[in-house]
Amino acid sequence: MIRLNNNYRKLQTDYLFVEIAKRAREHCAAHPERSLISLGIGDVVLPLPPSVIKAFHEGVEEQAHEKTFRGYGPEQGYEFLRKAIAENDFSFPGCAISPADIFVSDGAKCDSGNFQELFSDDIRVAVPDPVYPVYVDANVMAGRAGAVKEGRYEGLIYLEGTEDNSFVPSPRDLPASGADLVYLCFPNNPTGVAASRDQLGEWVEWALRQRSLILFDAAYEAFISNPTIPKSIYEIPGAEKCAVEFRSLSKTAGFTGTRLAYTVVPETIIVDGMSLHDMWNRRHTTKFNGVSYPVQRAAAAVFSPKGQRETRRIIEYYLRNAAIIRKAMDDVGYTCWGGKNSPYIWVKTAEDSWTIFDRILNEVDVVIIPGIGFGRTGEGFIRISAFNARKKVMMATKRIIKVLG
Ligand code: MLT
Repeated sequence: MIRLNNNYRKLQTDYLFVEIAKRAREHCAAHPERSLISLGIGDVVLPLPPSVIKAFHEGVEEQAHEKTFRGYGPEQGYEFLRKAIAENDFSFPGCAISPADIFVSDGAKCDSGNFQELFSDDIRVAVPDPVYPVYVDANVMAGRAGAVKEGRYEGLIYLEGTEDNSFVPSPRDLPASGADLVYLCFPNNPTGVAASRDQLGEWVEWALRQRSLILFDAAYEAFISNPTIPKSIYEIPGAEKCAVEFRSLSKTAGFTGTRLAYTVVPETIIVDGMSLHDMWNRRHTTKFNGVSYPVQRAAAAVFSPKGQRETRRIIEYYLRNAAIIRKAMDDVGYTCWGGKNSPYIWVKTAEDSWTIFDRILNEVDVVIIPGIGFGRTGEGFIRISAFNARKKVMMATKRIIKVLG
């Protein structure tokens, strides 16, 4: 008789962003005459830049002719793309990352969710709280989470991000029993806070000392404009021995619908006597057949000098949106984080976060994300995204302020 993976019963009914979309749909159905603005899920609105579109078209055209047609490609991604990524993202002094360390995929969400498959069921997993829900849910599905108690899983270690630590937990927040795997995301989703070199250095030092592993989500690195803030964990010496990094073109170059990401698994990481790179390669080649050729051609164009200039303009557009939201919140006296090296603004509110979510939706037709959706410590906060057209961002910001007061 077929039986279920009972771990799925421990999950909340819907994935956070699915629940938000459902509430937004119901609201639109009930009020078809009102115009909804979403500053909720971080989904881009600007089109792919011209040089990317050109390369995308060329890639499609090549598939139309016998001479240039390509079937299965390398699961890890074409060499031309991996080389372009390594040269652009990992060429800073002292960086040891090479094209061979890079695995091209269709999403940082999938990779950051799937990576835990490589590890034993009984490792101690630490997650920040608040946190991007994928890290927690993937470990729940894998059976590492234990029982649920007061909104938390007993089998996970929670690193609380609070006003006191400015939402950057440190290894000193871990219990004495330690942790084997820690998820870090900077600039952070949801708080928008970026970690300093010293803060990341502390984590790397800890991981090397404890022989633990860091899964570092750098999906928002392109939004860092302060040159003192590291964009990659590999800017910290030793990270190539204890950290895997996830990157994505979703927010960087408008690929949320086109799909392209990459995960860096340095050949220098050894776990239990085995090469982590070889293990991920084994997993990747078994369960994934590579990103489509035209998409990889489009992605490679992002790393050309013209593509870099074009994508920079897109990022600056969203950063300007973020600055507008942040200033408006600051002006009315709300305590906020993020919005400077990040497209997300994390706002402290006077009410619980689902109540304020419902009020903002019902009273002024704007979608934001309730902080509690990212974990218990997110209660009392909301996340506002800068990913929308300027006019809509300005309009929605005014509307939100009407509710927040
Ligand atoms: C978010 O809004 O947090 C992101 O868009 C979700 C994601 O990247 O999967």
